[in-house]
Amino acid sequence: MIRQAVYRLSQQRHLRNFATHNGRARTMALRFVAGETLDEAIAAVRNLNRQGMTATLDHLGENVSSRKEASEATQVGCEIMDTVAATDVQCNASFKLTQLGLDINQELAADNLRQIVEAGSRHDNFVRIDMESSEYVDRTLDVFFKLFVEQTNVGVVLQSMLYRSGSDLERLLEIKARVRIVKGAYLEPPSAAFQRKADVDAAFVRLMRMMLSRGEYPAIATHDESIIGETKRYAAQQGIGPERFEFQMLYGVRRDLQTRLVAEGYRVRTYVPFGNHWYPYLMRRMAERPANVMFVLGSVAREARGRGE
Ligand code: FDA
Repeated sequence: MIRQAVYRLSQQRHLRNFATHNGRARTMALRFVAGETLDEAIAAVRNLNRQGMTATLDHLGENVSSRKEASEATQVGCEIMDTVAATDVQCNASFKLTQLGLDINQELAADNLRQIVEAGSRHDNFVRIDMESSEYVDRTLDVFFKLFVEQTNVGVVLQSMLYRSGSDLERLLEIKARVRIVKGAYLEPPSAAFQRKADVDAAFVRLMRMMLSRGEYPAIATHDESIIGETKRYAAQQGIGPERFEFQMLYGVRRDLQTRLVAEGYRVRTYVPFGNHWYPYLMRRMAERPANVMFVLGSVAREARGRGE
């Protein structure tokens, strides 16, 4: 219930405008977001690299409604790929197709993504297409399959909550595409997705096994310790070394677990979001863990008391 309520708040435009201009909300966002500028994000990546982790940069933004915004996001995407190369950090980047214009026109988003992937290719770097809500899955995979014929330094994401992901994974394994598996951060109807956490988790484990056995450098993206344990067990059982896959986690979430996995010899990549458009991203993180809402409300209350409000 709380999850649904918080998720719905993430889609309220007036709340987004309020939160984005509110100092306290911005402070809260900094728990999950590395900063507003690319320089700040690169500094965060450097810090992660020092701790033995790689990263993927995410310039926050989604659902743009004008070609101008889509083109600006594309330019930032190319700048990210150039800056990563120039600063020599261990890092790739992730993009949402609705940030590159998918709501306007699929061809536009595909052309914009192609420019970023080509910039990545010039620097021998990799680009991941994030997966958005179920209404975008067909179009996202369509763009991915077409681009993958031209450039192989691009990968995609599947969500274990969606019933369709098993058959999507089969198609992706066939062409040796690089896949990140996640549980799924969007509110989905029973017609498209498992509603019970136990079913989402069981599907994740099934897909993870398929990816480890047959996939191309799979990315297991979760903070769920029991699934991480299952991944380690399965890999060891099948003789799959830790250099053949990576765990991925979000910036600011379970840092203890990230460090522990590195110490155990596993590869860990941290997803590092930056930029001004952090409101929907922050609200999805709240929806995933209601305790975060209490954490945030608590810090707002403490701050207010401190100011005598
Ligand atoms: P679950 O939600 O069951 O959490 C397991 C445990 O992790 C919790 O008990 C808690 O300890 C910790 N935890 C999880 N979320 C937390 C939070 N917000 N704050 C504090 N602790 C938290 N989704 C999507 O739809 N499309 C995408 O492209 C991506 N991309 C992506 C990249 C990477 C690198 C990650 C890690 C995740 C995504 N996601 C995503 C988000 C994903 O779908 C999912 O919503 C979150 O990862 C939370 O699910 P968990 O697998 O961690 O499990």
